[in-house]
Amino acid sequence: MQNLTALSLKTEQGKLQVLDQTLLPHRQQWLNCATVAEMVGMIKKLQLRGAPAIGIGACLLLAVRAEQGVSREQLRQDAEILRAARPTAVNLMNNIDSMLKALSEPDYANAAVACAEALFFEDVALCQQMAGHGAALVQPDEQLLTHCNTGGLATAGVGTALGVINLAHQQGKNIRLWVDETRPLLQGGRLTAWECQQLGIPYQLICDNMAAMLMARGQVDRIFVGADRIAANGDFANKVGTYSLAVLAQYHQVPFYVVAPHTTVDLNCPDGSVIPIEQRDGNEVRGVSGGFGQSIWAPEDAPVFNPAFDVTPASLVTGWVLDTGVYSKADIASGVLKQFA
Ligand code: MRU
Repeated sequence: MQNLTALSLKTEQGKLQVLDQTLLPHRQQWLNCATVAEMVGMIKKLQLRGAPAIGIGACLLLAVRAEQGVSREQLRQDAEILRAARPTAVNLMNNIDSMLKALSEPDYANAAVACAEALFFEDVALCQQMAGHGAALVQPDEQLLTHCNTGGLATAGVGTALGVINLAHQQGKNIRLWVDETRPLLQGGRLTAWECQQLGIPYQLICDNMAAMLMARGQVDRIFVGADRIAANGDFANKVGTYSLAVLAQYHQVPFYVVAPHTTVDLNCPDGSVIPIEQRDGNEVRGVSGGFGQSIWAPEDAPVFNPAFDVTPASLVTGWVLDTGVYSKADIASGVLKQFA
C-alpha cells in the first residue's frame, strides 16, 4: 500500500493513522487505527468525520487489513460493520460498495488496496474540480459565509465548500469569510477556524444565530455549504443548521450554494424526506462535549432532541456545485443528477 497523506488521514508502511478531530484546534494527535472496532469508534465519536473522509478512512482500513492477509469473508463482514458506523453520509455506503466489488476479484487483497487508493486519489481530484467551478462564482471583495467544516479535515483533498472558498482566496479575490460556530459540536468554531488560520483565509467566527443579522445588513454576499447526501430531486442533508441558513438566504436574497462531489448523490433517495438522519447523544446539547471533556449546563436529565443533520429543500438552493460543474434548479429538475446512476 502506498504512503498516503491527507489532513486527517495517513497511511505509512501499511498502517493507518487518523488525526483526532475532537482534540482540535488545541492538540494534534494522531491515533493508530488497526481494527474495525477502532474505526467504528472513531467515526461515531467524530474523531474522524466529514462525509468523504469517513468513507475513505473506512476503505483504507479494509485495504490495510486485506494487505495483512485477513480473509475475504472476514473483510466482507468488516465492510458491513463499517457501512453502519454513521447513517447519513452516503459516501461511506458508496465507498463500501466499491470495496465489496474489489473483494470479489480473484486477487482480492491487491484489488482492495488498489480500490482504496483509487478512492483516495479520486476524492483529491474531485475536490480540485469543485473548487474550480465554485471559485468562478465568487466576485472580488465578497463576504462569504459557511457552516460546519468542509475543508481538508473532512475530505482527502482541499475540501468541498471550504475548498471553493480557499481557491477564491488564493485567486486574490479579497474575500472575507463568516464562519458559523456550528452547534452542538462546534465544527465551525474548532475546525474551520483552525483550517482558515492555516490557510490564511481572513475570517470571523460567529454564533449560528448571528447569520440573520449579517444578512439583513447586507454583509453576506454568498453562502457555500457541503452535503452529506443529495437526493435525486436536489434536496440535500447537511450539518444541522444548514436548512435555517437556506431559509434566511432566500428571505435576504443571498445566493446559496451546496458543494459536494458526485459521490454524495444518492439516486435511491427520490427526495430529502427519506434521507436517514442521525440522532446523537443528548449531552451534546445539554452542554459541550468532546475531546476536552464535558461541561453540562442544562439540567442533567433535560430531554433533548439532537439530530446531527437537517434537510434543505432544492427550492432554496441557488446552485449545486459538483465536480462536473454548477447546476441550476432547472438543470436539477430536468434530471441532470441521473448521470451519476
Ligand atoms: O457530523 P460531521 O461533522 O461529520 O458533519 C459534516 C458535515 O455536515 C459536512 O458539511 C459534510 O460532511 C460535507 S463536508 C465535505
